[in-house]
Amino acid sequence: MPEPTPSPSNPNRVVRSAFNNWITAAGGVLAVGALFSFALLVWVDFTQGDKNPYLGIFTYIVAPAFLIAGLVAVFAGAWLQRRYAIKYAGESPDRWQIRLDDPRQRRLITLFTIGAVVFLLLSVFGSYQTYHYSESVQFCGEVCHKAMNPEFVTYQRGAHARVDCVQCHIGSGAEWFIKAKINGTHQLIAYTLNNYNRPIATPIKNLRPAQDICEKCHWPEKFHGNIDVNFEHFLSDKANTPYNVRMLMHVNTARAGSPSGGIHWHVNRDEKVEYFAADEKRQEIPWMRVTNKRDNTVRVFRTEAFKGEPPADQIRTMDCMDCHNRPAHVFPTANEAVERAMAAGTLTTRLPNIKREAVKALTQADIKTEADAPAKIAEYLRAKYQGSPELSAATIEVQRLYSVTIFPERKADWRVYPNNIGHKDWPGCFRCHDDKHKTSLGEAVRSSDCTSCHTILAQGKGAEIEHLNAKGMEFQHPGGELDPDLTCADCHNGGIQK
Ligand code: HEC
Ligand code: HEC
Ligand code: HEC
Ligand code: HEC
Ligand code: HEC
Ligand code: HEC
Repeated sequence: MPEPTPSPSNPNRVVRSAFNNWITAAGGVLAVGALFSFALLVWVDFTQGDKNPYLGIFTYIVAPAFLIAGLVAVFAGAWLQRRYAIKYAGESPDRWQIRLDDPRQRRLITLFTIGAVVFLLLSVFGSYQTYHYSESVQFCGEVCHKAMNPEFVTYQRGAHARVDCVQCHIGSGAEWFIKAKINGTHQLIAYTLNNYNRPIATPIKNLRPAQDICEKCHWPEKFHGNIDVNFEHFLSDKANTPYNVRMLMHVNTARAGSPSGGIHWHVNRDEKVEYFAADEKRQEIPWMRVTNKRDNTVRVFRTEAFKGEPPADQIRTMDCMDCHNRPAHVFPTANEAVERAMAAGTLTTRLPNIKREAVKALTQADIKTEADAPAKIAEYLRAKYQGSPELSAATIEVQRLYSVTIFPERKADWRVYPNNIGHKDWPGCFRCHDDKHKTSLGEAVRSSDCTSCHTILAQGKGAEIEHLNAKGMEFQHPGGELDPDLTCADCHNGGIQK
């Protein structure tokens, strides 16, 4: 503080700078703290902000806002002080003045200085924490909870529940840095204004390619061999008869080192599969091209109805996410959710027809909000099973299944988010493997018969499932003989079969 000089008109009063006052001092501390945070955040943003689009908000909006607030206080204090001095000149002592010669004020100043230093340290620490927080799973999944709750809930039960949201959704690279920054800011604003899309549209167009996400952890040439998968179903009959299919998925059929055959052939190093989708959700694929990178031979497959060439900018190279498109957020179908609960024993199998009734209770058309669901489900099941001792436990379980798989307010569930990994409830593999895509020579896509992707080891119920057949067996469809003109998804839709 500048030394006060005696005023000529009144020797007891001192003229001093209008900036010498407590409001200005506090504003100054705030401004310096904000400046510190700003500098630190800019540095973090430039060194690692590519992982975190929301950091930009704190760096370029929140920290500067504090800086401005501090500066406003600095000048407001000075202005008030000046006004006061003019109005009461010569009469009363200056208000808010800082005087080092007053022992009481000296104590206050000491306290204030300690406080200011602590504040500065905290603001630096705080901005560092802000950085970590804004890239945490909690921030993505819980703070934006209304918008992203469905993804958060489904994520917590997936294989990637310990992988941070930002590892898949953001990541490194200058181009993505800018895109993510713009997108992150846009998302937060949309969230605040409550005008984001419901459902949030997929496929996410600005997601980075799989090489930058999945392949950071998964080695594309990794040899998985055959993977043994057991699908546990329950039929829609009175007894809720269990029905299992156990199959070997031919993920890689060639030996270690060159996985050039099997399901992961699509991502092998020597060949490239590209396709054109006629719809936004990439469910209709009329055209595809296989390029052999070694000899540059090209084969183009197309459906009979598709004439001409697809627009070059809409041709997509197939990668992990064309099959594993729901690696972290699987919305199980109502059918699957109920079957899984029955298999796990959390939903009784003793109530007659409960498989079908539970699916129906979950898919009632008049449930419009999350809050409606429990009462509607209870009412539906009560009408069917009045008086049964199993009713109350079953109701609680079906209500729980609803709450973790169907999100009507965000309009998020399996009906809007197809899973492309199989072919039962969505077209999936059959988008291309359907014998309808042909080359100009009339060759169909190889591997479109029931044994090329998997071998059924066992199927049926009870003891039947213990008889393994290494050669594989023909699929016995529990819903009757299969019509070759229908695909599975023509009937199966995740709810009650058509
Ligand atoms: C293993 C990678 C991975 C992780 C981890 C991950 N996601 Fe996703 N997420 C994806 C993919 C892939 C999609 C779908 C992209 C597509 O279909 O285009 C997606 C889609 C989404 C969508 C769009 C709506 C939808 O359901 O498709 C939102 C919102 C979302 N994720 C939020 C989150 C949040 C919040 C977290 C953390 C709690 C998270 N994600 C973690 C890979 C991931
Ligand atoms: C940060 C590392 C990491 C990233 C990034 C990652 N994964 Fe994974 N993934 C894992 C781990 C670890 C497991 C094994 C989890 C387990 O065994 O419980 C796994 C398991 C899997 C599985 C098999 C398990 C299952 O039931 O689904 C698939 C398929 C998979 N990941 C695909 C993907 C795809 C596709 C992507 C890109 C969108 C991806 N992963 C991104 C670490 C990662
Ligand atoms: C975008 C179109 C497309 C989709 C989707 C697709 N495939 Fe393919 N797949 C192809 C093409 C093209 C070939 C090569 C056919 C040929 O050479 O005649 C192929 C070949 C294969 C092969 C044979 C590889 C070998 O050993 O030579 C298997 C197995 C296979 N696909 C399984 C699957 C499975 C399982 C899915 C679903 C999870 C799937 N495909 C989804 C286009 C697709
Ligand atoms: C043509 C579709 C397709 C493509 C493309 C594809 N996968 Fe797969 N992947 C499958 C299928 C089908 C399985 C068998 C497991 C199943 O049915 O869920 C599988 C299995 C896996 C597994 C082992 C799962 C387990 O349970 O152990 C991992 C990990 C995996 N894939 C990762 C990847 C990664 C990473 C990529 C991209 C480099 C990729 N996949 C590309 C279809 C595909
Ligand atoms: C292009 C590869 C491919 C072809 C061809 C194929 N499947 Fe599949 N099938 C798959 C994949 C991949 C899965 C596993 C999906 C998953 O992991 O959820 C699957 C799953 C299944 C299941 C278990 C589904 C469930 O939920 O119980 C049955 C049954 C089945 N296939 C029958 C058939 C029959 C019958 C045919 C012949 C009409 C056939 N598949 C042709 C790739 C194929
Ligand atoms: C004509 C319609 C129709 C077609 C096409 C069809 N299904 Fe079914 N499917 C049914 C009916 C009806 C049931 C019996 C429903 C029940 O008991 O829950 C059934 C039951 C099943 C079940 C056991 C119960 C369940 O809900 O999962 C499996 C697994 C199954 N089908 C797989 C397939 C596969 C794989 C394909 C394609 C290769 C296919 N279905 C094609 C109508 C069909």
